[in-house]
Amino acid sequence: MSAIGSKGLILDENLLFERSTVGRCGYDLPVLDVPATQPESGLLRNSIEGFPELSEVDVVRHYTRLSTWNYGVDSGFYPLGSCTMKYNPKINEVVARLPGFAHLHPATPDHLSQGSLRLMYELQQALCEISGFPALTLQPSAGAHGEFAGMLMVHAWHHARGNKRHKVLIPDTAHGTNPATAALCGYEVVPIASDGVLSVEAVATAMDDDVAALMVTNPNTLGLFETNIREICELVHSRGGLVYCDGANLNALLGACRPGDLGIDVMHFNLHKTFSTPHGGGGPGAGPVGVSESLEPFLPIPVIVKEGTSYRLETDRAHSIGRLRTFASQFGILVRAYAYLLAMGPRGLKKATQLAVLNANYIRARLEGSYHLPYKQRSLHEVVFSDAGLPNDCHTLDIAKRLLDYGYHPPTIYFPLVVHGALMIEPTETESKQEIDEFCDALIAIAEEAKTNPHLLHEAPINARTRRLDETQAARKPKLKWDSRVG
Ligand SMILES: Cc1ncc(COP(=O)(O)O)c(C=O)c1O
Repeated sequence: MSAIGSKGLILDENLLFERSTVGRCGYDLPVLDVPATQPESGLLRNSIEGFPELSEVDVVRHYTRLSTWNYGVDSGFYPLGSCTMKYNPKINEVVARLPGFAHLHPATPDHLSQGSLRLMYELQQALCEISGFPALTLQPSAGAHGEFAGMLMVHAWHHARGNKRHKVLIPDTAHGTNPATAALCGYEVVPIASDGVLSVEAVATAMDDDVAALMVTNPNTLGLFETNIREICELVHSRGGLVYCDGANLNALLGACRPGDLGIDVMHFNLHKTFSTPHGGGGPGAGPVGVSESLEPFLPIPVIVKEGTSYRLETDRAHSIGRLRTFASQFGILVRAYAYLLAMGPRGLKKATQLAVLNANYIRARLEGSYHLPYKQRSLHEVVFSDAGLPNDCHTLDIAKRLLDYGYHPPTIYFPLVVHGALMIEPTETESKQEIDEFCDALIAIAEEAKTNPHLLHEAPINARTRRLDETQAARKPKLKWDSRVG
């Protein structure tokens, strides 16, 4: 069980407005040496009445305490499956803060920003080498943004051949952003049922002359490698379609297999999942996209070009899908990924993947006796259990809430949709055996509680600051600021 539980000092906090004391002051200005004047009324903010009156120490302590309410990879184990966050080594932060990188204005002309262009070019080359694609863009600001860029290129490719197709095939184990992206690009989404992994027959049945692409997450959201991917790519190509791979789970494949070699045409990377950068919640992170030779002309602008020993940003590209964002990329994120790549080297990256897979399988082996494992195929980076067979009306949500009492961020729950009551765990390679054992001990104890003391699960979380929220309201209508009308 976690030694870092939530039973310690839980500081409660009221609003700064509630802490206000009339006359208390947090600043000390020098005596005025110019005539006093009243600001123009237009400059005065009247949307908030009664600003709180506080001292400096009141404010510093308030925000310091609030900052401890945030649970993240720096606070503890974060076993979120799929949109995983792994620990980001601090050396990445040091490198990204070097003044030459951090203070570079994004509009600096190419001849004065050769260092940053070189970094981006070399990162691009390294990602091409790792994934087996001949060309790549670093521009997208998140994984889903990368999907969008990739599918726009697919669309442009068909368009350039005068062959407008309207459908995109997406297996039921794909990540949720895949159908959303295809729909955003104007495609009709055709779901394909799989049995954990996608079969060639299922794709063959769905594939027709109106299918622009198959969008497949590999390894998929069950943590399974799509074993038929080569044949599937051949089939889709033979019928005039392209294959998009959601490569967000590349952290399971580094040094073992290159998606570009399998026949994939276009794939995005999630730098936060594979190369230890901040996520960014839809951006600003980074979701580079690798493409096959035939899609290269459609890459977004600007494209980083190397000429002799110098680098420049090229914008004059007739077939480009255009600009996806301002300037060249989410540069600070790329610096972190580059630092990680250099620190790890090819052997280190391969080892990271091996450890990520080992850790997921270790969890699988430890929990298999306590939780139902719906898919028996070999797991890669993540493992999905379900709540089937739990007694006393205990369900996945109860397990997740009870984990909070044990001091853990819960795994992803109720996803992927193909597993009823899913509990999706991805430890990543950064966790020690000790950490993983403590986490498994907690989950095994919870399975035991479900049998002997189910009210603990139904009542959970007991030790957390808040109990069970209305999850829909909290997600859709969060109350994030003080409102004088409410108080
Ligand atoms: C498999 C998969 N695809 C796509 C995404 C979307 O990536 P992002 O959250 O960076 O937009 C994620 C989340 O990280 C993911 O796990």
